[in-house]
Amino acid sequence: MPGFELFGDAERKELNDVLDNGVLMRYGFDGMRKGHWKAKTLEHELEKQLGAKHVQLVSSGTAAVSVALASAGVGAGDEVIMPTFTFVASFEAVMMLGAIPVLVEIDDTLTLDPKAVEKAITSKTKAVMVVHMCGSMADLDALQTICKKHQLVLVEDACQAIGATYKGKPLGSIGDLGCFSFDFVKTITCGEGGAVITDNKDFYLKADHFSDHGHDHVGNDRGAETHPFMGYNFRISELHAAVGLAQLRRLDEFLSIQKKHYAVLREALSQIPEITFRTVPEGGEENYGFLNFFLPDLETAKNASKALKEAGIDGCFHYYDNNWHYIRKWQHLKDMKTLYPLSKEVRDGLKYLQTKTFPQSDRYIGRNISCLIKLSWPEEEVRARASKMVKAIKGVL
Ligand SMILES: Cc1ncc(COP(=O)(O)O)c(C=O)c1O
Repeated sequence: MPGFELFGDAERKELNDVLDNGVLMRYGFDGMRKGHWKAKTLEHELEKQLGAKHVQLVSSGTAAVSVALASAGVGAGDEVIMPTFTFVASFEAVMMLGAIPVLVEIDDTLTLDPKAVEKAITSKTKAVMVVHMCGSMADLDALQTICKKHQLVLVEDACQAIGATYKGKPLGSIGDLGCFSFDFVKTITCGEGGAVITDNKDFYLKADHFSDHGHDHVGNDRGAETHPFMGYNFRISELHAAVGLAQLRRLDEFLSIQKKHYAVLREALSQIPEITFRTVPEGGEENYGFLNFFLPDLETAKNASKALKEAGIDGCFHYYDNNWHYIRKWQHLKDMKTLYPLSKEVRDGLKYLQTKTFPQSDRYIGRNISCLIKLSWPEEEVRARASKMVKAIKGVL
């Protein structure tokens, strides 16, 4: 990742189809389109690729998470259990619905610890949101069992994990609803875009209507459509969908490049006895978008992160000190800094963040380094990079 590294003629051709007919909107204007329906086509191709009955494209991954949760009926005062290590977007998407994000510990998979999930369930819990960070997954069997037992909706935020699988099924297609991002830095990109996937027709219709002002999309006269309920505008444009369509058709190519580069780096780092790798649950296969490994302690990880930067190795993240992905530095969320007043339920529900600590997550994130795998590296560069990484890390051990 990211897919933009390999933009080429395929993306140009799909975009030109849209510019040639001039219809940038995904709905209506049937006569002008000359048969080009980029968003609809991308939805159908994603259904096949992801083994899902229904796909609804939206304007971003953040929108996908909000739309998925809204479609499952999550709203005011409901609690959504999610991991401490994610992206602020997953937190924001829950807040947008007036619901309460309940953060719980991660384990060595770098995502939800099922034991922590079970402990956090209350009478207000409506959903569990697993976030497949950096291309890999939690123990999804365990999470599904918990959700069934407590009648909770399981939502997969697979925004960073397209192409990864669990027991042969694509991530995103295992829970009740799955969410994807096609923003600029993802394995396949639309520039900006996202998708909600589900096998549940009722959830799908809700996602379809909710993401377009509640329109029922029956017939082809937009002004005559009815609105079974209120929605907002989370539509994707035809321009964005066109780029995504070309990129999706190259997904298998991108994944095999990622896997090849990942294997070279992993083999090199495996020769350092102090390094261990993120646990991938049995039956899981990562999408190889990142290589995640652990060093013996926080201090060594900090030093290794610095040494990698100094050696000119870009794209290696130590999330412990990062402002976007880990709860430790989300001061604006801990302080509930919003432009508008929050409901009392949400303010009370979020108070725990001011004092709660997450020692187990700190232990994993503190020792973790996460290295982005780029698509555009020539083979020699991957090998040179691997040697530099080994040297830099050995230098701090
Ligand atoms: C885990 C996760 N969820 C949600 C999102 C939001 O996606 P977008 O940037 O398309 O809104 C991202 C984006 O990086 C992400 O990594």
